[in-house]
Amino acid sequence: MFQDDGEVMAAGRFNRSLAPLLGDRSVLMTDGAAHRRKRKLLMPPFHGERMQAYGRAMLELTDRAIDGMPRDEPFALHSVMQDITLHVIVRTVFGLEDGPKFREMCERLKRILELGAWAPLLLPFMQVDLGNWSPYGRFRAAVRAGDELFYADLRARRASGERGADILSLLLDARDEDGEPIGDDELRDELVTLLVAGHETTATALTWAMRWLLSQPSTFADLRAEVDTLGEHPTPEGIAKLELLDAAAREALRLVPVIPLVGRHLQRPIRLGGHDLPEGCVVCCSIYLAHRRPDVWDRPAEFDPTRFLGKKFSPAEFLPFGGGIRRCIGAAFALYEMKMVLARLVARLDLRLAGRREVRMVRRAITITPSEGLTVTARPRVARATKTAQATVSA
Ligand code: HEM
Repeated sequence: MFQDDGEVMAAGRFNRSLAPLLGDRSVLMTDGAAHRRKRKLLMPPFHGERMQAYGRAMLELTDRAIDGMPRDEPFALHSVMQDITLHVIVRTVFGLEDGPKFREMCERLKRILELGAWAPLLLPFMQVDLGNWSPYGRFRAAVRAGDELFYADLRARRASGERGADILSLLLDARDEDGEPIGDDELRDELVTLLVAGHETTATALTWAMRWLLSQPSTFADLRAEVDTLGEHPTPEGIAKLELLDAAAREALRLVPVIPLVGRHLQRPIRLGGHDLPEGCVVCCSIYLAHRRPDVWDRPAEFDPTRFLGKKFSPAEFLPFGGGIRRCIGAAFALYEMKMVLARLVARLDLRLAGRREVRMVRRAITITPSEGLTVTARPRVARATKTAQATVSA
């Protein structure tokens, strides 16, 4: 599937159910030449070397979320992770600093995403707009409210010529092979796509990572020790280089790939994996099953970050971001963000799992999340110095 050049396997058609939110011009809806053009326009802001510029915002927004967390009271970690990743994406995409505009944008987006996360809404027959009476009608109204802000921001940026280190600034100046800029409607669809694709996925991956780390105190302690080597105020560059942290993020993405499968519509008949498949057939690749192959992964159901230390897996073995011409545009961004957020949580908080039931996998629109949003309790970490003193006393 991932070797196809896009001529036989169409993803745009497979992703159609997301069109009411993302718009018809989104990269996720296109195939062939149109898709190649969009990838070229959208990729530069996501190149590895740009990550440091986003890293500072990631750390700052995580610290702020930690400051606002309930203390010693159970809460759903997933919703805090959603706030962090939403704030990060709004800040890095739009370059909005904290203030009324930033908060308004976050609120309107949150409403769209909450309404859109209801899985039945993906079914075409549910997509009937009966105004406020229907779930789809309420969802469309929320999308219109978000669009108002988007377009206002786009117009203001074009008029003022103001540019920053944000993704929108880069896209406003991007030109395709014919020297054409991206039009406002297209830009709107791509921005919403980045917001939607980048927010829930990363929040969920982070929640899963904490789910495993909190049930393995020794791995948590090793990770904390690694993060501590950077001191009280680590830099994004320092955090990005930590090996166990990188391995823990990858292992969380392996054990539960938040997007468990990707699909394509066949544009013509082909023979695939020994099967003759007709035109129009839908083929899916299960990322989840690939990540649990016992011939590749030793004890595949166990969380063991050390399996990634000093070892690289092939794109056919480890593929949380898909592969080939449709590989996730935000893969480097997502991994970077996971490392920034995990580093701060591990360094600053003592967290405990606090749910009364076993944590299960639950479907949420197109992702798999931990049940009940992963209930935890948090308290500020007992200071390192005090710990050492206590250890000395008890010794
Ligand atoms: C842990 C977080 C993430 C995971 C697990 C993930 C996973 C994926 C997967 C599996 C695909 C491939 C879909 C296919 O083959 O049809 C994909 C595509 C995509 N992702 Fe991500 N993603 C994540 C974060 C992000 C972020 C942060 C962004 C941007 C800010 C992003 C933007 C996109 C876009 C635009 C596509 C469409 C690419 C195309 O169709 O050419 N993703 N993602």
